Amino acid sequence: MARQKLARFEHNAAVHNVIEPGKEIFETVKQHWNEVFFKNNQPIVVELACGRGEYTTGLAKEYPDKNFIGIDIKGARIWKGSSVAIENNLQNVAFYRAPIDFIENYFAENELDEIWLTFPDPRPRDRDEKRRLCNVRYIEAYKKLLKPGGIFNFKTDNRALFDYGLDVVKSSSPQELIFTHDLYNSEYQQYHFGIETTYERIFKKLGNNINYLRCSFNK
Ligand SMILES: C[S@@+](CC[C@H](N)C(=O)[O-])C[C@H]1O[C@@H](n2cnc3c(N)ncnc32)[C@H](O)[C@@H]1O
Repeated sequence: MARQKLARFEHNAAVHNVIEPGKEIFETVKQHWNEVFFKNNQPIVVELACGRGEYTTGLAKEYPDKNFIGIDIKGARIWKGSSVAIENNLQNVAFYRAPIDFIENYFAENELDEIWLTFPDPRPRDRDEKRRLCNVRYIEAYKKLLKPGGIFNFKTDNRALFDYGLDVVKSSSPQELIFTHDLYNSEYQQYHFGIETTYERIFKKLGNNINYLRCSFNK
């Protein structure tokens, strides 16, 4: 293994804000995030497929009165968000290294106030539809974990994936659904919060528009 990756994994194993398999809290925190980790009653915001966790740390700086959890399977990416949170003394941040596939085990029904799904892998092949993080199984899971009135945000440059996810959302009883195929030239720019993810930066440079949707669900 490359030395840099090894150092990142050692960091993750040592720090408090990375929760990963092998640490006792990986199991005990499930469905009890505020009680076990944050030790307060603040609203919980989750960033899925967080990569380096730009929304997790960016929003955590802006909203110290909310708790933020970034989830991704890749430890070398989570390392970045964890380091940013430590450098900025952000006590309201955790990273959970786990497959999103089992998200319904990680959170209790109605435990979450907001979810961000940021630039998930497009999985364009038909046979990979089950792996798209905006397919009906996932959207129904997010709906269950969100409180009534809780917000779902989805951002991607991939138009086909976005339109697919939008159709799924539309068939899952959304409320106050807004969406745009060009966030940066839309009336919804305030929902961008001045935060750009790593993939967003790459795709914007290539000239791709950024698609965005936001809704709550009728539960
Ligand atoms: C295209 S990257 C986007 C990363 C980040 N959100 C950004 O915009 O820069 C997709 C991320 O999803 C993660 N991922 C894909 N499938 C996953 C799954 N089933 N569970 C957890 N993470 C997953 C990958 O590890 C990767 O970091």
